[in-house]
Amino acid sequence: MSIWSKKSVLSLQAEATREGGNELVRSLGALNLTMLGIGAIIGAGIFVLTGTAAAQHAGPAIVISFLLAGSGCLFAGLCYAEFASMIPVAGSAYTYGYATLGELIAWIIGWDLILEYLFAASTVAVGWSGYFTRLMSDIGIPIPPALSNAPFSVQGTHTLIPTGAIINLPAVLLVLAMTILLIIGIKESARLNNFIVFVKIAIVCAVIGFGFMFVDPANWRPFIPAEEGPGVFGWSGIAAGAGVIFFAYIGFDAVSTAAQETKNPQRDMPIGILASLAICTVLYILMSLVLTGLTPFRNLDVAEPVYVALAAAGPSLAWLKYSTTIGAVFGLASVVLVMLMAQPRIFYTMSRDGLLPPVFGKVHPRFRTPWLASIITGAVAMAVAGLFPIGLLGQLVSIGTLFAFVIVCAGILVLRYREPDLVRPFRTPWVPFVPVMGILVCGYLMYHLGIDTWVRLGVWLAIGLAIYFGYGKHHSRAAHKDGTEVD
Ligand code: ALA
Repeated sequence: MSIWSKKSVLSLQAEATREGGNELVRSLGALNLTMLGIGAIIGAGIFVLTGTAAAQHAGPAIVISFLLAGSGCLFAGLCYAEFASMIPVAGSAYTYGYATLGELIAWIIGWDLILEYLFAASTVAVGWSGYFTRLMSDIGIPIPPALSNAPFSVQGTHTLIPTGAIINLPAVLLVLAMTILLIIGIKESARLNNFIVFVKIAIVCAVIGFGFMFVDPANWRPFIPAEEGPGVFGWSGIAAGAGVIFFAYIGFDAVSTAAQETKNPQRDMPIGILASLAICTVLYILMSLVLTGLTPFRNLDVAEPVYVALAAAGPSLAWLKYSTTIGAVFGLASVVLVMLMAQPRIFYTMSRDGLLPPVFGKVHPRFRTPWLASIITGAVAMAVAGLFPIGLLGQLVSIGTLFAFVIVCAGILVLRYREPDLVRPFRTPWVPFVPVMGILVCGYLMYHLGIDTWVRLGVWLAIGLAIYFGYGKHHSRAAHKDGTEVD
């Protein structure tokens, strides 16, 4: 059978009703989804990578990087919203690819989304470990550096250099705890998530509100530092910074993986995706202004830049410094939770389609969660979080996600022309302008992520293709079952 076989949108919609009705529990509404989105979005990106990106790439102009990356996400988010309302099934971009561009591209997206969700869970766990270690040392329980850092750093594309550390233990334990929580049930997870997201927004608003009072405008001058080399300050630095902090926006699309657990997905998915994205964009722009206004940007190249920026404000903000650390510890944990929730649901859908072995699609009889996929996801995420540094992981996640966004935007274009009459509860405005801009801006950010990251993406995709041609292609249900269209 053809690697270009597609699933028809109608068969996908029928599948969503049938499978969603029988297995996963529909318990989430628009507010839950928005909270889920914010829970996934605000995390290591703003709490950790903003500091690195400002110090190494953009200076105070990191604010412009946030605008640039945010615009790419907005274009992609509008495309996601149309797909999510039209095809509300758990596989997200993977399924959208199946409906529009065929099985091979769907597989590539699905494989690529592993980079996004599973590796993002590890990345954020590493960021969490930085704040957690700081918190522990502040309360007099220091964690030895050998147990709270990556044992490897990577030079070039593939040279591993030992750092002297043994393992990033806090990061591993966090992933373990979140995996257990997810297996027990999504409803419980959503409740905990709502609480944590509330705390996280409160902390970010407090940093913005109180921080502004202590800003020294001299720190914003020059707003765009003179270029010191490619990607180091100047306009190329802004673009490189945007590629790095793009990570901070990742997560709004995770909302779309919960489609089958949503009560009214046609209405609620677009709200969840776009509302969470809009809220976070505003918060990020303000937060990056405050951070670079509190201290000279070169001081922000640390594992806990928000803490360092607040410390620069002196004793008046000491209370906020500590509350922020606690907020970051809870807040980053919630990101790990959502990422770890999204991944098994993609595995579940891919396994239903026969592209992955059935073990990935097993639903627990009592908890009604895809528990085996959760365990596999958790185990791999633990290993990655324990071993690798945040910079490497963050850029890999960013390029993988940008790639998925490009394909989603292309998918909207294809489907509008091929099947203009399909019912679209949410329509992306200004097609083809919005999807084309999505492709261009996300492509531009990818371009600026550097050759090493491109090579890693290439290796990852090559492994994925080997698995597809070795397994998925022969077991695909599209090759054996009715309800699909084959080109
Ligand atoms: N956007 C998420 C974060 O910043 C992945 O942690």
